[in-house]
Amino acid sequence: MAIKITGTGSALPEKIVTNFDMAEIVETSDEWIRERTGIAERRISTGDTVSSLAAKACEKALAMAGRDAADVDLILVATCSPELLLPCCACQVQSAIGAHKAVAFDLNAACSGFLFALNTAYAYMQTGLYKNALIVGSEVLSKLVDWTDRSTCVLFGDGAGAVFMEFSQEDEICENGRKAGIECMVMGADGTKGMVLACGERGLENPYAKEQEAVHPYVHMDGQEVYKFATRQVPACIKDALDKANLTVEDVDLFVLHQANVRIIESVAKRLKSDLSKFPMNLDKIGNMSSATIPVLLDELNRDKKLKKGDRLVLSGFGAGLTYGASILVWGA
Ligand code: ACO
Repeated sequence: MAIKITGTGSALPEKIVTNFDMAEIVETSDEWIRERTGIAERRISTGDTVSSLAAKACEKALAMAGRDAADVDLILVATCSPELLLPCCACQVQSAIGAHKAVAFDLNAACSGFLFALNTAYAYMQTGLYKNALIVGSEVLSKLVDWTDRSTCVLFGDGAGAVFMEFSQEDEICENGRKAGIECMVMGADGTKGMVLACGERGLENPYAKEQEAVHPYVHMDGQEVYKFATRQVPACIKDALDKANLTVEDVDLFVLHQANVRIIESVAKRLKSDLSKFPMNLDKIGNMSSATIPVLLDELNRDKKLKKGDRLVLSGFGAGLTYGASILVWGA
């Protein structure tokens, strides 16, 4: 039995906004942003929505897998920036791509969202409930940031990535002897630290509502707390996943991490005592797209033929919640 990714896809808005462009909007500089984050430019929506980007990414993933939308069993969209509260983005995607028989719903675990969605779909598929799933991370964060707040607006970008995952009865043994498919997953959350990275929604406005504290309507973040959390928790959870699978850091070919910040990724590599060359990055060109970063990077690596059959990948996400997780898989597509 194997549960493996058989297609990947991504969609980015066309508009490129460089650090120099950002310096015309807020008091910042290319040097400051690059040094602290590794980001040089990001894609910003001029009209694309979370659902339109998600649908495009899904169509590409299905095309790569050679599957028809009508055969999709499950669509899971991870997003924290949907254009509508109702209906959910996954139902919009279902309609847009014509996946009539698919069960569709959203999941919000912020930047860990794609990973949590992947693990959720994996758990469903292990029970035999669904034979395949489209798993998507899609965000238009440019509408959640305050474009006058230089400490946050420079960090984020918009985009979507998707994978198609399929169950097969037979094992697929790769040339290096590894069995293709997902091997292990771990997930965690620490709600007590939730407010270090938060964004408000509508407050209670009914006629009976008591006076409440104003809800901050834009992303606000204690960057240093997030940095401490990520650099401590991500290596710990990757080690936890490796222990669970009886593996070591040396058994891993690539670490596909949430692309928040180059310094976080460098620190994780150092703490794991692993070579930084095993940590692919693309955030210089597209910034932090929350739940979309892992599937977009996966798609880029896949289309650039940088993933070989039998490669062992660790995917790891971390973000608001605070949430974190890791999945280990052997590439078999
Ligand atoms: N350009 C110029 N100066 C800036 C900018 C900017 N874009 N943003 C903030 N500053 C200034 C601040 O106003 C402050 O000035 P002051 O000393 O005069 O008050 C100074 O830079 C230092 O501000 P800090 O917030 O302390 O900056 P820090 O060194 O912590 O860097 C950063 C901020 C890059 C966000 C850092 O905290 C970090 O790497 N955090 C990790 C979290 C992260 O990357 N989050 C991404 C999203 S969350 C996620 O995906 C999980």
